Amino acid sequence: MFSYMRLDVCWLTHLMVYLAVFQLIKRESQSVSSEKQRENGGNMNSKSDHCETVLQETSSSDSNDIKILQDYIHGFVASKVLFTACELGIFEILAESMTPLTSKCVAEHIGASINRTTCLLNACVALKFLEKDCQNEEVCYKNTELSRLYLTKTSCKSMLRTMIHYSNEVFPAFMLLKDCVRQGVPLCRLTSESKGNDCFKHMYRSEESILQFMQFMDSSTFLFGKEESISTFDLSCFKTICDLGGCTGRLAKTCGSLYPESSIIVYDLPKIIQVACEHFTGGDSKISFQQGNFFEDPIPDADLFILSHILHDWDDEMCLKLLKKVYMACNPGGGILIIDAVLNEAEEGPAIIHLQNVVMQMICDGKERTATEFKTLLVTAGFKDIQFSTKGIITNGILARK
Ligand SMILES: C[S@@+](CC[C@H](N)C(=O)[O-])C[C@H]1O[C@@H](n2cnc3c(N)ncnc32)[C@H](O)[C@@H]1O
Repeated sequence: MFSYMRLDVCWLTHLMVYLAVFQLIKRESQSVSSEKQRENGGNMNSKSDHCETVLQETSSSDSNDIKILQDYIHGFVASKVLFTACELGIFEILAESMTPLTSKCVAEHIGASINRTTCLLNACVALKFLEKDCQNEEVCYKNTELSRLYLTKTSCKSMLRTMIHYSNEVFPAFMLLKDCVRQGVPLCRLTSESKGNDCFKHMYRSEESILQFMQFMDSSTFLFGKEESISTFDLSCFKTICDLGGCTGRLAKTCGSLYPESSIIVYDLPKIIQVACEHFTGGDSKISFQQGNFFEDPIPDADLFILSHILHDWDDEMCLKLLKKVYMACNPGGGILIIDAVLNEAEEGPAIIHLQNVVMQMICDGKERTATEFKTLLVTAGFKDIQFSTKGIITNGILARK
């Protein structure tokens, strides 16, 4: 009984305090707003008048801003339309057909509803992935040059695998962006069981996910312009080249064709080397494979080390550990070629690299870096004569010497 009474008294006291504070805030805001009205020459007769004035004043610039926001609001819808059209094989079906196809015909091919397929196809037309063509008074659809080149499986420039990886791995991960930001950890460590795991343990959780990631990496070589970053520099003086974390060996093949005098070692985790040899290598005699963990196991000696999209997977401490190890294994007069995106010094752009940075922070402990941050890492590890190239599409080449 006594404790109930105490609870009631407490509750009443709290209520009174809240009411008092509420009155205070109300009075405060009333006096601030009348102060503002006085400052504005008494023009703001009411709240709605004020809104009307603001609307009239800014209507022309509003439409621009709203358009930008509308584009961002629907950004993920555009991505998902693209991913879904890829997953349903729409670009493939249209590429294989001798003539443009009606939406009914496409829907039959993919076993889907005609209405929804038409809606998806029309969105693809609006996004310039498809074109409409009238055949015998029927609306038909065909691929644009863009989708023929980049979204069909058989094209040598195909990015289909990138779309599939983003759809299956990256898109679902972004449902948890808020949690990753709040807790300051990547997705693979959001659950306490996976504490201490690196992102590759998570990414390589099954044979299927390994193959999917490797196919994505293979096609991203083209997407990110990694090959351009290699061809910018004259690397002919380096006779032994080690591509650390070389994955499928795609970049090694480019190196091999650019520098036929050089021999190239692709170094990666055992599982990856195994899959690379089974599914990706084209029997190039100048390329050999070595398996190991570049943090824990020995790495081969070489004249040049290539680290393509490696440093952005790790924090500064891990990057320094790896760079120091590379420095020790690098032959005298040798060098290191880093291929990664570079943020501008003020860290205000390019926007696409900031978005990429969010992806990196979501899926691993890495980050995109500025030129100064790369220089600091390289100099601390012992490297000198640092040169930057900006030839890649969204990646840069950074060459430094021992
Ligand atoms: C983002 S991918 C880059 C692949 C390739 N260099 C490219 O640019 O396409 C990172 C690569 O590093 C490899 N990797 C990650 N941790 C590693 C480790 N501890 N030892 C060796 N390789 C590792 C991964 O298996 C993967 O192939």
